[in-house]
Amino acid sequence: MCRSSAITIKNRRVFIKQRPDGMPTIDDFGIENVNIEDVPAGHVVAKVDTLSMDAWIRTTLNEEGMHRTGDIGSTIRALGVGQVVESRSDDLAIGDWVYGLMSAQTYAVLPAGAATKIVPEDGIAPSAFAGPLGITTGLTAWVGLVAVGEVQENDVVVVSGAAGAVGTVVVQLAKARGARVIGIAGGPEKCSYLTEKMGADVAIDYKNNDVSSALKAAAPEGANVFFDNVGGEILDNVLDNLAAAEARIVICGAISQYQHLADVRGPKLYLRLAERNASMRGFVVSHHEARYPEAIQEISELLKTGQLALPEHVVEGIDRFAEALFMLFNGAHVGNLVVRP
Ligand SMILES: NC(=O)c1ccc[n+]([C@@H]2O[C@H](COP(=O)([O-])OP(=O)(O)OC[C@H]3O[C@@H](n4cnc5c(N)ncnc54)[C@H](OP(=O)(O)O)[C@@H]3O)[C@@H](O)[C@H]2O)c1
Repeated sequence: MCRSSAITIKNRRVFIKQRPDGMPTIDDFGIENVNIEDVPAGHVVAKVDTLSMDAWIRTTLNEEGMHRTGDIGSTIRALGVGQVVESRSDDLAIGDWVYGLMSAQTYAVLPAGAATKIVPEDGIAPSAFAGPLGITTGLTAWVGLVAVGEVQENDVVVVSGAAGAVGTVVVQLAKARGARVIGIAGGPEKCSYLTEKMGADVAIDYKNNDVSSALKAAAPEGANVFFDNVGGEILDNVLDNLAAAEARIVICGAISQYQHLADVRGPKLYLRLAERNASMRGFVVSHHEARYPEAIQEISELLKTGQLALPEHVVEGIDRFAEALFMLFNGAHVGNLVVRP
């Protein structure tokens, strides 16, 4: 229902103060209060409930960003879930849960067309749309593994960044589809999480082991699918351990390279693609939008039957947004890192 636009909502937002040089520091971010006093026709105000902390956010801080660069002074972009508290659109009502570009703030003014209504389902919380059912998490995992990686039963699937948000979903989806799964993650705790809680067959601690020889031991016949979230040296380690033919390397991301996008380390062993008749293909999840309904259906079923879980690592308070962003790069979280403003 449309309502009057005369309102005052106190919003608190985190903005880009200066461009980071390498790993961002707290000085690169500003925080301020701003009042929302006008809601344009066709727009809604959503109280932000959950922000999905995604690696792409880091790339918006620099001029050479892979994703659209944020202007100095602009609110840092982030996807998330919120609840409508004001509406000047006939399509959304107060109380509706929505998913969209909430950004790093406590309240977001959004065109109604840019806020996707979440239809509540038993046993699935709205915040799942910033996690297992979120575009940049669960749907990315599904698209990369199924649509791009064409995973098959009995494939050996290797996943880097396996204990993070996308990785955790990839591990469980691959298991649910009958693959043997090897996760690569940093530290013994993350490796135990993968094998004891997420069902991975093997976990390799890249911080304390030689990844290439650990892969040879774990999968002597080599990998059929490599879902890469990390890039750099780990990509070469897996290229050196591909199955004899038809392996698919899926470039989901390269988080090891995001602090220096103007000087990315490419794969040294790319000739393995020719030697093994393998393919390497990148993807942007949004290019596969037509497959979202299929992905949502499969992930929802697995969630409801308890075959898939994505633990949340919650950082409370919008003032800690920058701190949460740093955690993506220092490996301080397990599962899905979110901010609850
Ligand atoms: N293609 C697409 O459309 C698309 C969409 C969404 C996300 N992505 C990509 O998906 C990947 C995972 O994103 P996410 O949001 O789920 O993050 P995440 O995996 O929850 O967190 C990032 C993890 O990466 C690991 N990491 C960070 N720096 C590293 C380094 N230098 N070397 C090795 N590992 C490092 C850390 O785990 P450890 O402790 O194990 O090091 C960290 O926990 C990212 O590359 C992101 O860009 C792509």
